[in-house]
Amino acid sequence: VVRPPLGDVSGLPIVGPFAENWANVQKFQAGEGDVLIDTYPKSGTTWISEIVDLILQNGDKKKAQRGAIFERVPFLEFAVPKIPTGTEVLNAIEPPRVIKSHLSVQTLPNTFWEKNCKVIYVARNAKDVAVSYYHFNRMALGHPDPGTWDEFLNNFMEGNVAFGRWSTHVKGWWKMRQQTDMLYLFYEDMLEDPKREIQKVIKFLGKDLSDDVLEKICLQTSFKAMKENPKTNYTAIPSTIMDQSVSPFMRKGICGDWKNHFTVSQSERLDEYYQKEMSGTDLSFRFLV
Ligand code: A3P
Repeated sequence: VVRPPLGDVSGLPIVGPFAENWANVQKFQAGEGDVLIDTYPKSGTTWISEIVDLILQNGDKKKAQRGAIFERVPFLEFAVPKIPTGTEVLNAIEPPRVIKSHLSVQTLPNTFWEKNCKVIYVARNAKDVAVSYYHFNRMALGHPDPGTWDEFLNNFMEGNVAFGRWSTHVKGWWKMRQQTDMLYLFYEDMLEDPKREIQKVIKFLGKDLSDDVLEKICLQTSFKAMKENPKTNYTAIPSTIMDQSVSPFMRKGICGDWKNHFTVSQSERLDEYYQKEMSGTDLSFRFLV
């Protein structure tokens, strides 16, 4: 497999083939009631997608099995040769839809703001994101080869990876949350108390679900359940796109795996980057739960 180089849209590095479909993303029209899930990659996108879909289906497991999660929650900017693009899939579905995107707040098409779409953003600490993204880049063949962990970490801190700088992404959306109908969640909080965080999502979406249903959603969206579930573990994706023999999509699902990857000096370098990037914002992350 020849891996494509990164593409660029309005200064944001993006998966190469995604850039070629950019005109269609810009033309995309959000609809009344569409819910946007936005994240920097590897921050819990699939997890929150499953949670949101189940909530909107009132916890009905059968309805949630109607397709793989990447079909139920289409990926706006997705574009890979020979497969329907995210915009093609979305344009064939009537709103209200749940839409996934990794776009930065600066590059998201205005249509989402014009239609006052609800947005759920999930952020995760930079160290675990870097580790998860490294393993993902090894197996997701649309991304450039990550090289060694040290090489990847440098590229990550420089923003030379698909969807750019982690800090720009999390800060951009953090700032936007005050002006829009947005729920800003943290992966670490979801791990610490999934029930509490799922309740926030239920409330945000204006749903009223029984404790029994809430319990069911918690069980069904546990890491173990999602890793075993073929509708959520991405095994439906061909190995020419994601080679899960290299690294599984549902890899570890924990906080603090960075301790198994970072050397002391790599950790110090990231701490320095984090301090610098986060100065002047009240946004902060937990690196251990
Ligand atoms: P790891 O690689 O650290 O295991 P995304 O969906 O944004 O690509 O994020 C993928 C990351 O979320 C992976 O992290 C994956 O294991 C983790 N993840 C997916 N489902 C999860 C769940 N139900 N609970 C905890 N972590 C989950």
